[in-house]
Amino acid sequence: MATVTGEKVWIDGAFVDWADANVHILTHTLHYGLGVFEGIRCYRTADGASAVFRLPEHVRRLFDSAHINLLDVPYSQADIETAILETLRQNRLAEGYVRPIIFIGDGEMGLNPGDNAVRVAIIAWEWGKYLGEEGMESGIRAKVSTFSRHFPNSKMTKGKTCGDYVNSILAKREALLDGYDEAIMLDTDGLVAEASGENIFMVRDGLLVTPPPHTVLAGITRASVIEIARDKGIPITERTVTRDELYIADELFLTGTAAEVTPIREVDRRTIGSGKRGPTTKLLQESFFEIVEGKQSKYESWLTRL
Ligand SMILES: Cc1ncc(COP(=O)(O)O)c(C=O)c1O
Repeated sequence: MATVTGEKVWIDGAFVDWADANVHILTHTLHYGLGVFEGIRCYRTADGASAVFRLPEHVRRLFDSAHINLLDVPYSQADIETAILETLRQNRLAEGYVRPIIFIGDGEMGLNPGDNAVRVAIIAWEWGKYLGEEGMESGIRAKVSTFSRHFPNSKMTKGKTCGDYVNSILAKREALLDGYDEAIMLDTDGLVAEASGENIFMVRDGLLVTPPPHTVLAGITRASVIEIARDKGIPITERTVTRDELYIADELFLTGTAAEVTPIREVDRRTIGSGKRGPTTKLLQESFFEIVEGKQSKYESWLTRL
């Protein structure tokens, strides 16, 4: 992937030049991982404008993540929504990825962050297809990770906490080193949880199935796909899924802000269904892209115009 670059970064309420968006080496979050973040996409819409997909939902989850971690954010959700839109404008991005991060600054060291400032930054950049253009059509190859998803009482699951992503990075790197594109993670009971940074869905006999939200992040793309499926009359259920159910699924796909809707064509050397993007995946993927591009007025409330 190419080096990320841009023009301006919003940090603690003001814009600074990209090259000056630095923090002190004793930034608490850098050492101990207690910080929270979001990943948000902005799309070019069919009318030539741009829109952020599900902005209030992402900002709400950012604040939920902070609340779970006892971080007092010195801004309102409305302030952060406005700052996100302004960051896209300042970087002249008609389309791109936005990364707000709330972190603990420098000052005291040791696990207790004491009175160190809670700081906020918003970065935006151009980002193409996370799992590759080809993967969107042909599907990707995934491996069930040797690493388990965190037990919910250690990492908890409703927040996007910086340090929790070590678990995802270990799984992702293992999958890539073993020649796969992505890692699927089981929870500590051995049930399918999610991928390293995506939720997972399977289709079997026309029924769409996804693991329940307690061991996984309540993905905003996941919720969107569930709603789209219901609107299209596709039966959907949230229930536990075992590893071998993945192998015999007719279709599998991942959802996430970065990965959008990405088909899986192989898991652990077993071909999934016909070995290519299945019809339900295609339907949901096409609807998703039509919606983010503002082509379906029914879902206009999911878009915040830039
Ligand atoms: C662990 C994990 N699961 C699932 C997702 C998908 O969530 P969303 O669709 O809200 O991006 C993400 C990405 O945020 C993630 O990091």
